[in-house]
Order: sequence, then structure tokens, then C-alpha cells
Amino acid sequence: MTAPREAGAGGDGRKPCVHLVAGARPNFMKIAPIVRALQADGRLAWKLVHTGQHYDRNMSDVFFEELGIPAPDVHFGCGGGSHAQQTARIMEAFESHVAADRPDAVVVVGDVNSTLACTIVAKKAGIPVAHVEAGLRSGDMTMPEEINRIVTDSLSDWFFVTEPSGVENLRREGRPESGIFYVGHVMVDNVVHQARQLDAMGDAARVALATDAVKRALSEGGGRYGVVTLHRPSNVDDPAALAPIAGALKAIAEALPLVFPVHPRTRGTLARTGLDLGPRVHLLDPQPYMAFLHLWKDAAVVLTDSGGLQEETTALGVPCVTLRENTERPITLTEGSNQLAGTDPARIAELARRAIAGEVPRGRRPALWDGQAAGRIVEALARGLGQAR
Ligand code: UD1
Repeated sequence: MTAPREAGAGGDGRKPCVHLVAGARPNFMKIAPIVRALQADGRLAWKLVHTGQHYDRNMSDVFFEELGIPAPDVHFGCGGGSHAQQTARIMEAFESHVAADRPDAVVVVGDVNSTLACTIVAKKAGIPVAHVEAGLRSGDMTMPEEINRIVTDSLSDWFFVTEPSGVENLRREGRPESGIFYVGHVMVDNVVHQARQLDAMGDAARVALATDAVKRALSEGGGRYGVVTLHRPSNVDDPAALAPIAGALKAIAEALPLVFPVHPRTRGTLARTGLDLGPRVHLLDPQPYMAFLHLWKDAAVVLTDSGGLQEETTALGVPCVTLRENTERPITLTEGSNQLAGTDPARIAELARRAIAGEVPRGRRPALWDGQAAGRIVEALARGLGQAR
């Protein structure tokens, strides 16, 4: 068992200790600002638990390095396998962990299997759970993340919410008002912080972030390009679902070269089926955070099925077309720069065309997406754990 990290100097070892859970790539961006806020605040001790759900260097370690997250205190190595296998392995490992080293609260983020697994274990052990990014609902029960969100929110004690729809959903589901905190979005804290770091880099360092494929796309498009990410099982696991999307991308790329960092799940289907994306869709390995930020923040359009990227593009005012039938993040549509295309190739192509032509508003940043969400979370946690100033 490691000693709890004392937040700030002079910790006395008796501060309430929270354990932060991170497992998959989209968790790391949410944990980084919370760690910074805990360090700055100093009222709580903390530890970082990595479940190992994501394990490739480019899906995990590189984010710790670039986002300045300290090495985890424990690492379970529970990646791969089916949903049940992965969830069960994480639950077993986390149960042993909290039995040996009981925290005063557990903080989970997002909607991945690690979020679900650790929430169930903590709650059964009688440890309060704080859910960051609570209350989001797509209404789509075929989406594994929707199940994870609903179960996590049915068990959590603190709900840290990113947008008003989340507050409404939690109220409708009967969650107690006293536990609901509309704090804004730690994902935005992170992107704002990292965009500043990117600005502070010298030109040479920034140029070095671009791979050869990116440079090819840039020169093909005379500096204009689009960015693609796809990894939702409903889009990429079944070749019959992926083929029409691939067709739409190929058609869009005739007007605008596309750069496509390929998630391991998607890589598998592309390799098995040999789907043809044409010469102007440039495939890359999963990108480190800074190289990817450098790429998408200046894109003419981002085409994605990611949840986080819908929000990050809204935060920086980059046009986004979402290749899904629904979104659990509706504020990106009503206030932000996102358009929901579904998976019909003609509609994807039309919305991409409009975005590329500059025909869609760039939107604005929603209330409290101001880079300060993690501080609000730490304030509420510290008060909740008896550490009011
Ligand atoms: C998970 C999350 C999803 C999130 C996504 C971001 C769940 C249910 N899904 O989906 O919400 O948007 O992460 O990436 O938790 N793999 C590797 N290397 C890695 C990680 C995964 O090769 O570092 C491969 C493995 O074969 C694995 C497969 O990708 O079985 C899928 O990984 P998994 O974590 O199960 O789900 P994701 O599709 O990544």
C-alpha cells in the first residue's frame, strides 16, 4: 500500500483521502484537471488508480506524460476481453484494492467500463462515490456507455454535471437535489490548458507534432483538411455499418483531404474487410493528445462518433459533424459547433459540405465551460468530506 499523496506541502496524513479512477483514454483528460485542482487546493489527500482498460502506449502512457498526470499509485492491468470479462476483472481488482486501502470517497469519470465497475464495488463497500460527467443520457440502450451511465448514476452520491440536460435527467430519475452540482466540464478545463501549452511551444516543436501523413494531407488540400475519428461499436464492428460511412468519407475527401487516426477497434475491422477509403483519406495510428489537438483545432471540419470530441470542438469553436443517430451531449448542438448527421452517407456528406463551406455557426461556449470546473468539484468534495474552509 502506498502512502496517500498529500496535496500541497505539510500534509498531516489525516486528511480525507479520495481515490480517483482512470481506465480508458477519455478518462485521462478528465482526471488531469482534477489532479491539478486537488494539488492546488490542499484539503484532500488522494491516490490515482489505473484499471488498465486501455494499455497501448498511445492509448494511455502518452496521455499521462503530455497531460502532466502523475504515475498511478496502482495499476490493475485489466485491459481487453469482452465487456463482462473486463468489468468483472476490474471489479475483483478494485474490491481487493479498497479492502486493503479504504478511501473516504471514490471519484469516477465518464462512462466507460472502468467507471461502472469501480462504482459498483465502492458502493457495496459503503464508500461514497462522486461521478464526474453525471446525468448525460443518449436514450440509446444499445450503447454500452448508456448502460454504464445509468447504473453509475443510480449508485453515486455526488453528481458533477456538465450541461443543463444532465441536471434535468438526474431530477427526472429522482436523484436528490443536494447531490447535484452543475460545475461545467473538466474536459474543457483540460483542452483550454493544453491549447495554452500548445501556443507556448515554439514553431519548430509544433511542426514536429505533424506526421508525414498529416503533412501530405496539408499539401494536398493547400492547408485545408478535415479530421475523422470513429470507434463506436455500432459504427465500426459490423462491416455492413462501416461500409457506407467509409463511402461517405471517400466522397468528402474528393473535396477535402481527411486525416483519420484509427482506434484499435476500427483498425481491426478495416484490416479484416479491406474497405477502400480512397487515396485522400490518410490513416494514422492513434495520436498523442498534443499532436491530435494541433491537428483538429485548425481543421475545416471534424467528423466523429466520439463523445468528448463533440465537446472539445464546441469549446474551441471548430465545426463538428457527429456520425451517430443521437447524442447524450445536446448542448453541443444547441449552443456549440456540432451537427448530428446520423449514419446516412448522403446526410453526412451534405453536413460536411456545409461545414466546409462555412455555412454553419461556430456556436459559443456553454455556461461554466470556463476552464474552472475541477476547482468547483474539489470545493464540493472537500465540503462534503467535512473540510469546509
Ligand atoms: C472504450 C469505451 C468507450 C470510449 C473508448 C475510447 C467502454 C464500454 N467503452 O471503448 O466509451 O469512448 O474506450 O477509446 O468502456 N485495444 C487496444 N489497445 C488499447 C485499448 C484497446 O488494442 O490500448 C483494443 C482491444 O482489443 C480491446 C478493443 O480495442 O478489446 C476495445 O477496447 P475497449 O476498452 O474494450 O473498448 P473501446 O472500444 O476502446
